[in-house]
Amino acid sequence: MFAINRKDSGTPAAQGEPVTLTIDGAQVTVPAGTSLMRAAAAAGGAIPKLCATETLKAFGSCRVCLVEVEGQKGYPASCTTLVAPGMKVKTDSDKLRQLRKGVVELYVSDHPLNCKGCPADTHCELQSVAADLGVTTSPYGFDGASHQKAPCDASNPYFEFDPKLCIACSRCVRACDEVQGTFAITIEGRGFESRVVASQDQSFLESECVSCGACVESCPTAALSEKPLAILGRPDKAVTTTCAYCGVGCSFEAEVKGEQVVRMVPSRDGKANRGHACVKGRFAYGYATHEDRITTPMIRRKITDPWQKVSWDEAFKYAASEFRRIQATYGRQSVGGITSSRCTNEEAFLVQKLVRAALGTNNVDTCARVCHSPTGYGLKHTLGESAGTQTFDSVQKSDVIFVIGANPTDGHPVFASRMKRRLREGAKLIVADPRAIDLVRSPHVQADYHLPLKPGTNVALINSIAHVVVTEGLVNEAFVAERCEPGPFQKWRDFVSQPKNSPEAMAGITGVPAALVRGAARLYAKGGNGAIYYGLGVTEHSQGSTMVLGIANLAMATGNLGREGVGVNPLRGQNNVQGSCDMGSFPHELAGYRHISDTVTRDLFGQTWGVTLEPEPGLRIPNMFEAALDGSFKALYVQGEDMAQSDPNTQHVTAALSALECLIVQDIFLNETAKYAHVFFPGSSFLEKDGTFTNAERRISRVRKVMQPLAGLADWEATVGFARALGYEMTYAHPSEIMDEIARLTPTFTGVSYEKLDRLGSIQWPCNDAAPEGTPTMHIGEFVRGKGRFYVTEYVPTQERVTARFPLILTTGRVLTQYNVGAQTRRTANSQWYEEDVLEIHPQDAEDRGITTGEWVGVTSRAGETVLRAVVTERVQPGVVYTTFHFPDSGANVITTENSDWATNCPEYKVTAVQAVKVQRPSEWQRRYRKRNEEQLALAREATGSSTAN
Ligand code: SF4
Ligand code: SF4
Ligand code: SF4
Ligand code: FES
Repeated sequence: MFAINRKDSGTPAAQGEPVTLTIDGAQVTVPAGTSLMRAAAAAGGAIPKLCATETLKAFGSCRVCLVEVEGQKGYPASCTTLVAPGMKVKTDSDKLRQLRKGVVELYVSDHPLNCKGCPADTHCELQSVAADLGVTTSPYGFDGASHQKAPCDASNPYFEFDPKLCIACSRCVRACDEVQGTFAITIEGRGFESRVVASQDQSFLESECVSCGACVESCPTAALSEKPLAILGRPDKAVTTTCAYCGVGCSFEAEVKGEQVVRMVPSRDGKANRGHACVKGRFAYGYATHEDRITTPMIRRKITDPWQKVSWDEAFKYAASEFRRIQATYGRQSVGGITSSRCTNEEAFLVQKLVRAALGTNNVDTCARVCHSPTGYGLKHTLGESAGTQTFDSVQKSDVIFVIGANPTDGHPVFASRMKRRLREGAKLIVADPRAIDLVRSPHVQADYHLPLKPGTNVALINSIAHVVVTEGLVNEAFVAERCEPGPFQKWRDFVSQPKNSPEAMAGITGVPAALVRGAARLYAKGGNGAIYYGLGVTEHSQGSTMVLGIANLAMATGNLGREGVGVNPLRGQNNVQGSCDMGSFPHELAGYRHISDTVTRDLFGQTWGVTLEPEPGLRIPNMFEAALDGSFKALYVQGEDMAQSDPNTQHVTAALSALECLIVQDIFLNETAKYAHVFFPGSSFLEKDGTFTNAERRISRVRKVMQPLAGLADWEATVGFARALGYEMTYAHPSEIMDEIARLTPTFTGVSYEKLDRLGSIQWPCNDAAPEGTPTMHIGEFVRGKGRFYVTEYVPTQERVTARFPLILTTGRVLTQYNVGAQTRRTANSQWYEEDVLEIHPQDAEDRGITTGEWVGVTSRAGETVLRAVVTERVQPGVVYTTFHFPDSGANVITTENSDWATNCPEYKVTAVQAVKVQRPSEWQRRYRKRNEEQLALAREATGSSTAN
């Protein structure tokens, strides 16, 4: 039987010089700073414990872990006593057992050992300590038990708190403080009066708790436990896999009973998350078996026809015949494909291979087009590699953390917790964001500088910061002289030092007082290790690529690259954005970011695939839409992407999709794009397949199959089936063989294999002969491109200007509990925290318009109109409104425009000029959307028999 007890050394690892001591007669050598408890564990022993766990600092409250130390009086707690050279320690004796027994009997008086039926039965630490000491009942009786009548708090949808089972060890409180950094719970009272209290003595659901599960993970009993554990019972196996939500890439043990996930437990061995998780990965996996899943292939001739259920073979045959007919009629370039940043590396690689090799075109793109394509451009040009430079662990060595256009506590929560821990230890924080995001001020964290810039003025801001660095003599001259090209550096220096780039001159544009900019620039340049973390608030602009260049310029100028604690780190939105880009999903690049026009690379791929590849880059997503509307682009294969909701200017997108003659959508749900599709390939969730994801640290981690694919085929198998139907043979028995092919063709992946991933746990690319176990920190000694290259970053205002008609700027973002287009999280209890997209508006703007919180607001831009409920808040500055895009019928992207980044076409989601007025009913688009949505769901229901099928 699978055991869910974990090995736990009791206290965190220490880093000091080796110290040798004797424990129970055996010599052991451990780093100075190690506790006796951990040293005993290293020697193979196990001292009983209740309040200690290796993820938290020692607390010393339970007194179960007492030991004897030769020459010392009394019985010190082994969790709080540190090793010393020559120390002689005894962990077991009659006296120690007697003392421990007395303590445990006291605990048992408040927590009777009625273990049968308890969710923690067989993995409860109190139960196991009591059993070891032979404690079965308490001589103190149970009358003093003050928690026995306390009601259970089951308000949180995912876990419950049963005070009757609480032993007041405080592990949950410390986990919330130390690991998560939310400080949502406390212990009130003393002795038997001690009790765990959430926020202001509220229910967990009403409290500040963000449902990360760290308290549940740390609880030694079932006082805090996952609800499914009580319902489904003990799991029978655990499979290590990787979260399919954000780009942090947390590692989990999926604990499974039969084909059902009992719980997802964050892996302590996971190098991206170190045992922590957030509400999405930890709890919101129920979408994978939601009744809306479509599990049979479907086809239809017209998008107004009912869907027809078919076999996989029929679906492949129909799709292939349509693609070939269209190519024969309109030409080879009239078709294309979109790879998914939610699918595995292997699946993205296969889709682009199918498009290039089987369809003979480079018309392939990926959803990274609409998020981080400027990162690829900016970092490749300056540093030579299109990826973040550090590990997440690196932040522990940062002295100054500069967050630009990212909201880590919502978008990358597990990394945010790491960052906050470092900030609590004393690192300084600069936040550049139009909104007062949580990091600006949260428990025990306060930004030293918040630069509340106007949306669209990033480049002006980075230039003014650079101006201070250059004109105040803060350039790291030695680093630049040794590591960077002198000519471009001089040009950049001359450019940024011009008076027009000074903070004073730029303040009118950015809206940020010059003194703040000067202070932040000095802090970043002089404060020690400076690390920049940025997100879509940098990239999703008409000057997104310019801003990435500007960030890299700043990091090079201050010498903040090429070692731990520094770097330039794009926080990736979706789980495999990095990977889908690495895999050659862009129309101009083959795997490993090698240009399609390069003959040697093209021939290498062409020979391996048995085809001649086109040397010209294909169409990008926006160009595909344009071509569909002008009639030259007719068929598209979309894997795991919902452009009808996620891409800007929805009406333009849906018009383009409607113009296609064959749209294949491969997804787990009938998403918004599928409502315009002719062929539906039912997708597989991350629980149903093998593969790999690559996170924001370039870390490749295994995704392992936990259950059989509900539709019979994993996504990669469906792509293989489609390729074969097109007459192009693909012969892979397992995704590991796809990875082997990637490794053979891609210099940065040469050393990657499933065998090595299983052995090492995860690998950060580049992984090759030069770095056989991967590359945690990039650009050590020299940049990937050789010398770093500076670029002049002239600020060019966006064309999206506020006017009397559109006086406000709309900017967009995410919330913690929902994810991207919401297709997954909307189908979980996460919607209890956020059930609709809302419009944040500053009190002054709201008052001018007579708007109060909860009222309907019509938001109109040059592209369209939608209606959202208002939330009046000072989180946004006057003149700026903000919304999210998690719900299809809120139509946030009906209002965003087609303005895009000059270099990469990444849409300018973050800047849309709008007007907001009080209204009484949904917009015209919303009414049309709801009608059409109902029609499409009805057409699907006819085929699937599902009552919802949405
Ligand atoms: S779930 Fe997370 S945020 Fe909530 S109380 Fe537990 S540790 Fe704190
Ligand atoms: S809920 Fe669990 S972790 Fe928290 S004090 Fe009680 S027993 Fe300890
Ligand atoms: S932080 Fe990201 S990867 Fe980690 S559990 Fe949350 S959603 Fe998943
Ligand atoms: S485990 Fe050491 S005092 Fe509780």
